[in-house]
Parts: sequence; structure tokens; C-alpha cells
Amino acid sequence: MASTPLVEIEHLNVRFGSKTAVADLSLRVHAGEVYGLLGPNGAGKTTTLRTLAGLIEPTAGRVLVAGLKPLQNRTAVLRRLGMVMANTPLPESMTGREALRYYGGFYDLADLEGRIALLEADLDMPYLDEPIADYSTGMRQRLNIARALLHEPSVLVLDEATNGLDVTSRRAVLRFVAEQRARGAAIIYSTHILAEAEEVCDRVGILDQGRLVAEGTVPELLERAGARNLELAYLRLAEAAAPTPTQEVHP
Ligand SMILES: Nc1ncnc2c1ncn2[C@@H]1O[C@H](COP(=O)(O)OP(=O)(O)OP(=O)(O)O)[C@@H](O)[C@H]1O
Ligand SMILES: [Mg+2]
Repeated sequence: MASTPLVEIEHLNVRFGSKTAVADLSLRVHAGEVYGLLGPNGAGKTTTLRTLAGLIEPTAGRVLVAGLKPLQNRTAVLRRLGMVMANTPLPESMTGREALRYYGGFYDLADLEGRIALLEADLDMPYLDEPIADYSTGMRQRLNIARALLHEPSVLVLDEATNGLDVTSRRAVLRFVAEQRARGAAIIYSTHILAEAEEVCDRVGILDQGRLVAEGTVPELLERAGARNLELAYLRLAEAAAPTPTQEVHP
């Protein structure tokens, strides 16, 4: 693993009113590394990832993408960042190719058409000249991934990116993550499908109620939990981190 941290999250706190969504979270992701961000519904995963794109302002602490603060350097950060979220809205009246040309226009790429053609082949999108309104979930998600990769970002964030995908499309996404890792991208992979995380992640962090309750390589977490797979390790580590229920006191 190279040693350049492309994502640095330091003592991040995010509050929505009186609710704490992220509590004193620190983590780093390096070039050529896939970091799995796991945790139950409402743990604060998406909130954390949104701070990287400057969509949410930290209440305290800071996040850096390639050394830059997203809110202060929005354009520079968006040039380095690719985000794939589940169910991202797409321009329904356009074809996939038109949409990619539109998104690509933001990045001032030297050979946008060539880049689109490459992604069309890599992500197996023979439907790129059909209207998006006619696409299935998997076709949409592959287009979303192409959109995130148009500008060859050095930081790639995938938040439940394989939601609703069939086995073939899911394999394509996992293969893609491996390829991006090999080209030196820093990747944050958030999922509820722990078999996927076990397969693609170099390191994993488990968030619970906004706190990082465990972090390590997959073998380290398996060893620590005495578990044979990441799902069992996750359950044991999350359980161990849960606050002990207060004893009922009988007068
Ligand atoms: N814009 C918002 N306003 C108020 N509360 C919010 C907002 N966004 C998130 N939250 C709250 O912050 C907490 C963390 O939400 P978040 O979406 O980050 O969780 P998550 O880990 O991504 O969960 P899931 O696995 O369900 O996607 C939740 O309690 C949620 O209700
Ligand atoms: Mg989420």
C-alpha cells in the first residue's frame, strides 16, 4: 500500500439539531486502498461520505480530500472525487451518452468521447444510445458508475452502489473497484453486504451511532472476533461495542 492518505477524516462530528449523526470519527484512506465503511442503518455512513463532497458541513473536526477541504475548495475537490450513491436521480429524457457528455462537460476533459467509449466497453453498456427512462436498475447503476469515473478520480466513494443489482452487474462493480484500486485510487466502499466488503476491502471500519467501534484489516477483524467470516465478526464486534443495558433496580 502506498502511504499517501487521499482521504483524511479527523475528529469529525456532525450534528443535525440535537441529534449527533457522526461522533469524533477519525480515519484515513490511502492511495491504492479500499476502505469498507460498515454499520447499521442510521450509523452515520452516508453523512460521513457527504461531508467529503462538501454537501454537509462538519459541526466540528475536519475532512480532507487529497489534502483539500471540500467546502473551501469545492471545484478542486470535485475534480478528484467520484461518488456513486444508490438511487441517484438521472436526466430521464436524455440518452446515457448524452448524460455522460453533459456531466463530462464539467471536467473539461481532453478526449471526452474516447473516455465515454472506454467506459461503455468496460462497464458493458451497449444501451448507451437509448433513453435513460427505459433503463433497468442495473443499467442505471452502471451509468452512475461511469459518471463517477469519467474524470478518473483519485478518490472514489461508493455508498450501497450494488443495491438492486443482479449477480452479473454486481460482479462488474466489484471487478471495477479492484481495477480502480490497482490504478491507485483511494476507495471508500460502504455496504450492508458483508461478503462484498470481505472480498474487496483492504481495511474495514465499523460505525455505530456515529462512532467508530472497530477498525482493521479483514484478517485482523476475523482474528479479533474469532469469526470465520466478516458477517459473524461484524455481529460480534458490534455487540461487544454496544453499551451494556442498565440493570433494572428493584426497590
Ligand atoms: N439531513 C438530515 N437531517 C437530519 N437528520 C439527518 C440528516 N441526514 C441524516 N440524518 C440522521 O443522521 C443519522 C445518520 O444517518 P445516515 O444517513 O448517515 O446513516 P447511514 O449509516 O448511511 O444509514 P443507512 O445504512 O440506513 O444508509 C440518522 O439518524 C439520520 O436520521
Ligand atoms: Mg446510508
